[in-house]
Parts: sequence; C-alpha cells; structure tokens
Amino acid sequence: MTVHPFYSEFSSLEEQLRMRIDILSLFNAKEIDHDWSFIEYKPSDTGKWTHDYHRYPTKFIPQLVERLIDEYISQKDAHINDPFMGSGTTIVTAISRGFKASGTDINPLSYLITKVKSTPIEPKYLNIKIERFLSKLKILKETQSTLFGDKVAPLIPQKHIERINYWFPEKTKNELGKILRVIYDEDDEIIRDFFLVAFSHILKDCSIWKQRSTKPTRDLKKIPGDPYDALRKHLSKMQKGNNDFWFVVPHHVRENLGEYLNIKVGDARKQPVPDNSVDLIITSSPYVTSYEYADLHQLSTIWLDLAEDLTEYKKNFIGTSYKNYKNKKLRSLIATDIVDKMSKKDQKMAKEIEAFFIDMEEVFDESYRILKPGGRCCYVIGNTKLKGVEILNAEVFAESLEYSGFKLDRIIKREIPSKILPPKRDEKTGRFAKNSEANTEAYPIEYIVIGLKE
Ligand SMILES: C[S@@+](CC[C@H](N)C(=O)[O-])C[C@H]1O[C@@H](n2cnc3c(N)ncnc32)[C@H](O)[C@@H]1O
Repeated sequence: MTVHPFYSEFSSLEEQLRMRIDILSLFNAKEIDHDWSFIEYKPSDTGKWTHDYHRYPTKFIPQLVERLIDEYISQKDAHINDPFMGSGTTIVTAISRGFKASGTDINPLSYLITKVKSTPIEPKYLNIKIERFLSKLKILKETQSTLFGDKVAPLIPQKHIERINYWFPEKTKNELGKILRVIYDEDDEIIRDFFLVAFSHILKDCSIWKQRSTKPTRDLKKIPGDPYDALRKHLSKMQKGNNDFWFVVPHHVRENLGEYLNIKVGDARKQPVPDNSVDLIITSSPYVTSYEYADLHQLSTIWLDLAEDLTEYKKNFIGTSYKNYKNKKLRSLIATDIVDKMSKKDQKMAKEIEAFFIDMEEVFDESYRILKPGGRCCYVIGNTKLKGVEILNAEVFAESLEYSGFKLDRIIKREIPSKILPPKRDEKTGRFAKNSEANTEAYPIEYIVIGLKE
C-alpha cells in the first residue's frame, strides 16, 4: 500500500496550502543550472552507439541520463527504470553500464526500437547478415520490372491499405512491400527486428510526408526517396553504431541480456517489477494533449501492423483527449488551480488537463512502489502555455511527487540548446507545431524534478 503522507486524512488543508506555496516559491527562485545544458556535445556524441537508430520526438540526450546515473549510482549492480521509454535512451544507457534496465511504453514501436537499440549484436555475424540482405535487395532492385522481380510478392498490410495509399506512391509502395517480404524471410528474430527498425526509420523519407514537418502533412510535390538506397545507407550507420555499442556493453551482460533487460509494451502505471526493487528512475512523460505520439508514428504503425485499430490505440496514451474521470479527484492544488483557470476558457481542454494530471499522479504512485528506500525518481518536464493559461507541469509534478510519498529532493532548471530543441507546441491545441509557426510556445527551459523515497 502506497503511503501518501501529505494527502492522508491527517494532512490538513493548511498544510497542503503551505506545501503549494513552498513549491511555487522554490520554482520562482530557481536559477538556471548552466552545466546541465550539455551545449558542448556534437550530434556525433548525442547519436553515439545505437542512439541514432530511429528518429523520435523529444528524445533525451544520452549525456543527461549518464550524468544522473553518475550522480546517483555508485553500486555495480544497479537497477534503472523508465516508465515512458520512448526511443529507449535511459534503457540503452543502463545496459551500456552493465545495469539492469526495466520499463514500459504504450507504443509498440517504442518497444521495438528500445529492444533493438539495447541488444548488441556480434559484429562479424551482423556483417554477414547485412551483406546477405543487401545482396538480395540489389537483385530485387535490378530486376524490378522483370519477371523475376515480379515473383517476389510485395507484403503490404491490407488492413491499412487506404492509409498506405494516402502516404506512398504506387511504385514506392511496391518496393517497400518487397523489402518487407525479404525482412520477414529472415529467421533470426534479433536480425529481423534490426532490419525492421531500419525499415521503419526510412518510411518518412520514402513517403510524401512533408519534409521536416512533425505534423502529418502531405506534400504532393515531394519526390520520395528510393527505399533501397535509403535502407542501405541507414543500415551502414546502424551497423557502425552496433559495433561501437558491442564493445561498450560488459561481456557478462551481452551473454545474459535476458537477465538485464526487462521491457514491455504497457502502461506506465504498471511496471513489470516487484516492490522496492529499483535504484533510479529516469524518465520524461508525454505532455497534455500529446496524442500526436500515435499520429507521428503512423507510417511505422501501419507498415509494421502494430495496432489493430488506430483510434482505439490512441486512447491509451497519457495526455489524450479520450478520458473522462468522473470518479477521480486531483490531489495537487496547483493542478486544480490550472484546471479551474482553463475551464473558464475551454471546458474540454480543462477536462483533458485534469485527466493528464490524475494519470500522472498514478504514475508517481507506481514509481514510489517500485523504488528501493533511498532510491530516486527523475522526471524531465517543461512548462507550457495553452490558451493563455500557464501549464506549470514541473510545479505540479513536484507537488504530486510529495503526495505520492516522495521527499522533493532536487530541482534542476536547464536550458535546452537550440540544436536539440524539441518541436514547439501550438498554444491553441498543445500539439507539435513547426518552429517557425506563430502563436507557439517553445521549451527553451525544462526541469528535472527529483523525488527521493526515504
Ligand atoms: C517524452 S516521450 C519519452 C522519450 C524518451 N525519454 C526518449 O529518450 O526517447 C514520452 C513517451 O510516453 C509514451 N506514453 C504515452 N502514454 C503512455 C502510457 N500510458 N504508458 C506508457 N507510455 C506512454 C509515449 O509513447 C512516448 O514514447
């Protein structure tokens, strides 16, 4: 049973009000910690090892995760958890250090990417597999419009054919379908998944998805990239990343990866680990109205057939607008203020914000359950503004962590250098917008809110 010292019936409203004021003043007085900007790191540093296998919005930079581990972990046999794995930056980093790594993500694509990125493959074996695969693709490409080429039936998920036709010209669609057929012919699951991640990564460039747009927008004038060339190029990059990673991961971890890697497709409120078993949680949650995680990965979701029904699938994402929590009540007073302010402007959005903070309170309870006494959780989060209302995510997280039983241990306020700035959000909708679009709010500042389980 989780303890909520401040939320318990013994905690008076007066105490709760005092805690709210303390937290707000703490944040107001907080200066930027400049040595947490990691401005000196080049893309080759942030994309080292397997970190650049697949694009993912709002990826961590690995150096941030490494620094938190350096500051909080001294033992050799640590267990690190991330309930919102995304592209797996925390998990890869934990494995690179020889630690146990566990976590979840509701997005099956995130699970696939994280699994592949955390699984080092013996370099010579991978080389043989890639060479064989590329020679099959070469034959396919050279015989494209011949009888032989036509014998390889493209594997195109018919369930999503309308969406596929919407995003891909006929020729590219057939080429991708043939490549997918060859990938599924691979017997070794580790290698097959490695190829699937490469395939998934090139889909955007090979479609008419508008270049550099984070929103699903079509560009009918775009000439999609050649799938064979794109795949060859990306596989070569991944191969180099794998080989570097292989030599970083300790031998005993490579040999017994199953004992170290425990990741699942699933909800952040249900971690696949026992009570009191984790030393450190390093994570970044989605934002309110951030159902675009599902939208943004739709090309991969349809080609890899990762969701039965795209609309149903979106409903499980935290931060979506599908929730209605009549029987649940927010604990955080700061969140309650934000919801009250928003309900004067937009009732529907107020409900979404309320549901988001309630969901997050449950995630914090789960973090409390799994951490060992003395363990810490680090939540990376930025504040934003919707319809003129300041959404103080970081302050709410700090307050909610206390209600879940944590002691608020530390707040780091960091600047995000422009080269790694996440996409801006539209103030009206909260969704990702182009960085040049007006009426948007960026996250030049974000916080790492750290709770200690005493
Ligand atoms: C900010 S991203 C994490 C990025 C990650 N730190 C990285 O380095 O790639 C948030 C993630 O939360 C996931 N998510 C959304 N709702 C979830 C839920 N209910 N349970 C678990 N994960 C969820 C999204 O799929 C997304 O991958």
